[in-house]
Amino acid sequence: MSLSVRSVATTPFDGQKPGTSGLRKRVAVFQQEHYTENFVQAIFTAMPAPGPKNAVLVVGGDGRYFVKDAVQKIVRIGAANGIAKFIIGQNGILSTPAASAIVRKRQADGGIILTASHNPGGPKNDFGIKYNMRNGGPAPESVTDAIFAATRSISEYHMADIGNDIDLAALGTQKFDGFEVEIVDPVNDYVELLKDIFDFDLIRQFREKTPDFKLLFDALNGVTGPYGRRIFVDELGFSESSLEQCEPLEDFGGGHPDPNLTYAYKLVERVEKEAISFGAASDGDGDRNMVLSHDWFVTPSDSVALIAHYAAECIPYFKRSGVHGLARSMPTSCAIDRVAAAKGLEVFEVPTGWKFFGNLMDAGRLSICGEESFGTGSDHIREKDGIWAIVAWLNIIAHVNRSTPGASVRSIMQDFYSIYGRNYFTRYDYEEVESDGAARMVDRLRSFISETESDSGIVGKVFGGFTVAKVDDFEYTDPIDHSVSRRQGIRVIFDDSSRIIFRLSGTGSQGATVRIYIERFDPSSFDIDAQVALKPLVDAALEISQLEQFTGRKEPTVIT
Ligand code: G6P
Ligand code: ZN
Repeated sequence: MSLSVRSVATTPFDGQKPGTSGLRKRVAVFQQEHYTENFVQAIFTAMPAPGPKNAVLVVGGDGRYFVKDAVQKIVRIGAANGIAKFIIGQNGILSTPAASAIVRKRQADGGIILTASHNPGGPKNDFGIKYNMRNGGPAPESVTDAIFAATRSISEYHMADIGNDIDLAALGTQKFDGFEVEIVDPVNDYVELLKDIFDFDLIRQFREKTPDFKLLFDALNGVTGPYGRRIFVDELGFSESSLEQCEPLEDFGGGHPDPNLTYAYKLVERVEKEAISFGAASDGDGDRNMVLSHDWFVTPSDSVALIAHYAAECIPYFKRSGVHGLARSMPTSCAIDRVAAAKGLEVFEVPTGWKFFGNLMDAGRLSICGEESFGTGSDHIREKDGIWAIVAWLNIIAHVNRSTPGASVRSIMQDFYSIYGRNYFTRYDYEEVESDGAARMVDRLRSFISETESDSGIVGKVFGGFTVAKVDDFEYTDPIDHSVSRRQGIRVIFDDSSRIIFRLSGTGSQGATVRIYIERFDPSSFDIDAQVALKPLVDAALEISQLEQFTGRKEPTVIT
């Protein structure tokens, strides 16, 4: 028998333009009749050549409310569009890094990931749909533009009549007329990949020899709970009490599944109270991470630099194949540049957004990269990877302890600073600012940039003892496909290499979010509180931008 397909008449919805991380809206928006179906059909309509006919597609999400409904719709619409095989995480679950890993390992033609990342979930909160390419990475703008165009012109979508819903719980292959569905364990392939990358034996030996080393991993009730349990407890032998909020919940327990000092407060409290040696968290879909100890908070900028410093020395994946270049997003601190210089590696400065690393990785010029926004990863997949970063730290701690027993997160960072100096870094966020005021503030800052830099309004002026050397608006030309991204953030660079960067967030959902990134290099003092070390530059940033006049805000919403 051949597949029975029916076409359903529909009309376009406004605003189905995928952002950097797919289409993200409130659940209620996706629940409107035809809304999800239209967008899913648009993905298949726009799927790059040779298109969906006979293609293999990976599908899964972070377990939030509406994931299972969306999986059922994707199977029906995908089958009707010619997909030959769906590889689906059991119960619809796949972390974003695991989905990327499975697309690559199984040589699938693409993947659909169902997540709104670190945004709250549940019937009243957010849902999202994102399309990833054959390399396991997010679709580039050319493809997301084509998806958007398809949502604008859609008049019908196609549905396969398959009777009952797919059984998402039963592992193994289910055959239908014209296509098949394979339900896979969400964790297995990913854990195999990490076991191949890291030195699990070394970490296990270190744990056995160091019983007072305490680990605490908080999944914030996001998707990484089962991944964390398998890796930290089953594989590495840490105790069950090393896990916090590791039950994936459709609404993340009502919390905000974002690993930072504000939202991962349970972790932060326990780490302090119980003098935990190593605490870590990841976000709803598992691509972000935070690392800290009871006496040190590792900024994401420092974290990626430290991993880059040790990678070739103790992480098997990099010992085998070498480190082929480093990268960071523009606002991320320049600590990793110092590592690159010392090790004779290329280093790239790309705009904010993980997608900018993909081309460099595919071209073999980038191995390790990170962003200040709690994203760290490597070319093992094409997404950032929270658990990867956490296990990288464990691998490094275990390695350093071989030669220096008792080495802690804090001492490891202090040693790092004594080699490279310290790039003090902080970020001030002003959320839900009135959009007009924010835009006028940025326009005024842009007016400081002129054709000849010497004409610029503030070059040569002194703020809080720092002399402005240069002002520009970051522009990036991709070294591989030569595409140009303009207006990626205004940089005020001082003559001692300190930087203040002003950017409007691309991920906020209400009004505008102003981000100010502040960085100062200190070659010799490593132990100052970052807020103290950066106070004169924070004041300079407020004076230069006149933020309060433009936005009415006296204090930031979040400081990281
Ligand atoms: C998402 C992207 C990241 C990006 C972050 C910050 O998490 O995956 O690559 O760094 O958003 O974006 P924003 O525009 O809000 O600063
Ligand atoms: Zn995420």
